[in-house]
Amino acid sequence: MTTQAFSTVLKEEDLARLNYPDAPLMKTSIPGPLGAANLQRSMKVESMARGAGKFPFVFASGKGSTVKDPDGNVLIDISAGVAVSSVGRCNPRVIEAIQQQTKELMHSSDVSSVRRTELAEKVASIMPGGLKNNCISYFTQSGSGAAETALKFIKAITGRSQVVAFHGAYHGVWTGCGSLTTGERYHYKNTHIPDVIHVPFPYAYRSPFGRQTQEECEEMCANYLDYVLNTPYTGADDVAAVVMESIQGEGGYLPPSPRFVQRVKEACEKHGALYVADEVQAGAGRSGKMWAIEYAGVTPDVLLWGKGMGGDVPMAGCTFRRDLVEKIQEGCHPNTFAANGIGAVVCMTNIDIITENNGALLDRVAALGAETVEYLRGSNAPFIGEVRGRGFMMGIELVEDSKTRQPLAQEKMGALLGKLLNKGVILVPCGRYGNVLRFMPSLTITKELLFKACDLLVESLNEVATGR
Ligand SMILES: Cc1ncc(COP(=O)(O)O)c(C=O)c1O
Repeated sequence: MTTQAFSTVLKEEDLARLNYPDAPLMKTSIPGPLGAANLQRSMKVESMARGAGKFPFVFASGKGSTVKDPDGNVLIDISAGVAVSSVGRCNPRVIEAIQQQTKELMHSSDVSSVRRTELAEKVASIMPGGLKNNCISYFTQSGSGAAETALKFIKAITGRSQVVAFHGAYHGVWTGCGSLTTGERYHYKNTHIPDVIHVPFPYAYRSPFGRQTQEECEEMCANYLDYVLNTPYTGADDVAAVVMESIQGEGGYLPPSPRFVQRVKEACEKHGALYVADEVQAGAGRSGKMWAIEYAGVTPDVLLWGKGMGGDVPMAGCTFRRDLVEKIQEGCHPNTFAANGIGAVVCMTNIDIITENNGALLDRVAALGAETVEYLRGSNAPFIGEVRGRGFMMGIELVEDSKTRQPLAQEKMGALLGKLLNKGVILVPCGRYGNVLRFMPSLTITKELLFKACDLLVESLNEVATGR
């Protein structure tokens, strides 16, 4: 669809009405006095093991792609609650769905409910490739729950124990899925499950095989995976599944090419292993297609989803090819809060907003994402080593020196994020060295807010470079 085509159904002025007007609007520094007091109180009563307990911004309210803190500052939110608020915060259609459902039914435990069944049918109808209407879903409240459930089921289905995951992977933090996740910080004192094998993910900018183009790096990573899975004496004799993020998130916002994804699937098929696509972060429209794996035209055996599917309400799940789940024993995996009525209607509303009008919102995400990547590439701002991405999953890798690619020092990253907050932009980093800024706004963000955030980023980078 052309820009012209989607702009006839998705008008910028309508999208603008989803936000607080005039963002960014700064009244105090961040945190202001009320925000700071809240942070102090929080630190006394909440565990700092959580993701970003000391992040200096405190949410008071949110509307679309804008958020307010207790001091009345209004910021542009380029993080969408870490790729969660797919249709923007407090979308009026979501609020209406919640209000209506509160009068009908909220909790049903693991018993069927009208809304829960409707949701399972709707999820089946939007699955990629051969999974579409040929699948069974299991609902959870988090991506970790979805990944942990999938691990239990794939082992039961295949009767095999080994699982292959990738360097840089993030699949949650529970004991099972946390063993697939990489990163010392997340592994912290955890007991790991055995039989997990990690292989290189194509990250050409920091390839383990030396300086390479993306194509060369992908070729080597795909060959290596195929070698591990399909050659004797590699130790990978009994692999139940390969689990891969369709776009690697926490590891640095790395979109593999369609060909790489196809090669992963081929290697799985040769070995007889299942292919689990983790779309907890990349799914729900973020890539510019409902599922990022659609770019490769590959059907996974299992798809993990979460984050943007629930948006303002926790909803996640794992969806299996129908014939696989018939092998799972009835009643082996109860979940008290699965597909709560509110979660079900919110998830269905989000799916409608993301997919309606022949996917106009998705086309807009693909086009605007590509435009943003080009804009940032052309900015010539200091420290930018690489800008990459697909749709609204864009990573800006910051380095001290573009020749050595030494990651930007953490003090400079801290200074940059602080400057951005004080100019009215919420951006959070990722990457193996914490030096990749991730642009992951709501799919409904206006072009004006998105490019305003880009300009404030460029301004902040210049200030950090010149010590201002
Ligand atoms: C790809 C991926 N899988 C799984 C998870 C875990 O999801 P949750 O934090 O909802 O448990 C995440 C969270 O960031 C993720 O990005």
